[in-house]
Amino acid sequence: MPLMGPSEMFAAAYAGRYAVGAFNVNNMEIVQGIMRAASEEKSPVILQVSAGARKYAGQTYIMKLVEAALAEDSSVPVGVHLDHGPSFEMCRDCIDGGFSSVMIDGSHLPYEENINLTKKVADYAHSKNVWVEAELGKLAGVEEHVKSAEHVYTDPDQAVDFVRRTGCDSLAVAIGTSHGAYKFQDDAKLDFARLETISAKLQGYPLVLHGASSVPQEFVALCNKYGGQVGGAKGVPEDMLRQAAGMGVCKINVDTDIRLALTASIRQFIAEHPDQFDPRSYLTPAREAVKSMVVHKIRNVMGSSGKA
Ligand code: G3H
Ligand code: 13P
Ligand code: ZN
Repeated sequence: MPLMGPSEMFAAAYAGRYAVGAFNVNNMEIVQGIMRAASEEKSPVILQVSAGARKYAGQTYIMKLVEAALAEDSSVPVGVHLDHGPSFEMCRDCIDGGFSSVMIDGSHLPYEENINLTKKVADYAHSKNVWVEAELGKLAGVEEHVKSAEHVYTDPDQAVDFVRRTGCDSLAVAIGTSHGAYKFQDDAKLDFARLETISAKLQGYPLVLHGASSVPQEFVALCNKYGGQVGGAKGVPEDMLRQAAGMGVCKINVDTDIRLALTASIRQFIAEHPDQFDPRSYLTPAREAVKSMVVHKIRNVMGSSGKA
């Protein structure tokens, strides 16, 4: 199966009340870990590339890694997606470079400016048959180019107007999740009533949930046991994500949990084998840790096992 756009993936996910996992990739081991998990679980998967990842690895390297992954196993549908595209130009470069979907993130802009930018990207993307995700509302937390101290939840009526006026194909909504490892000071809480209203107003339309790592405490503990300082971290409980997947959320984004799994594994290995310095020695179990984390997500969070 070649690279697949989200259109078919999300139609099946919407109807089947599951989600497709979109996992952030930065290097070969992460791509391999995710792809091996998707193959084993026979699950569709989206590999997503942030502006920071694109800068770190280079767009050509990332695309060649994806190509290699597809050549190794062509049995599962795979999408490659620009995560939080900051500008029309970067979206255009990714569209021209073979990405199957792009996100234009104008969520930090005033409403009309977000509309104008998103529409410009959607018009270009659609002329090349590429899918566009946009964002309305603000997630609290820090991203590379967007910083927001406060959540601004997505307004349901505005979401309808935004989708109609921009032509974006999927919409990331703000209902209480945030990026990174520190999502909630108190108990985890998502605004499901708002999600239900948005879904009802946008019947059949695929929604996206960012900031959806669960920050498993065993991985935080493992990091800290071997010298890390990941204090007070808290993520989105898995049952809440499953619930969202049954409410029109077709794509669930996970980055932090992969970082935690990879780093915990490397910390542990290096602490337990102080004599070893061959990168392959610690990257082999680290890649396996990414794979196990993604298998777990596919089975328990996305519900997409066997949907390839
Ligand atoms: O939404 C943000 C993603 O976790 C990507 O993070 O910009 O540090 O690569 P990054
Ligand atoms: P997490 O930080 O919760 O993994 O969210 C990742 C994300 O939304 C990438 O766009
Ligand atoms: Zn995000």
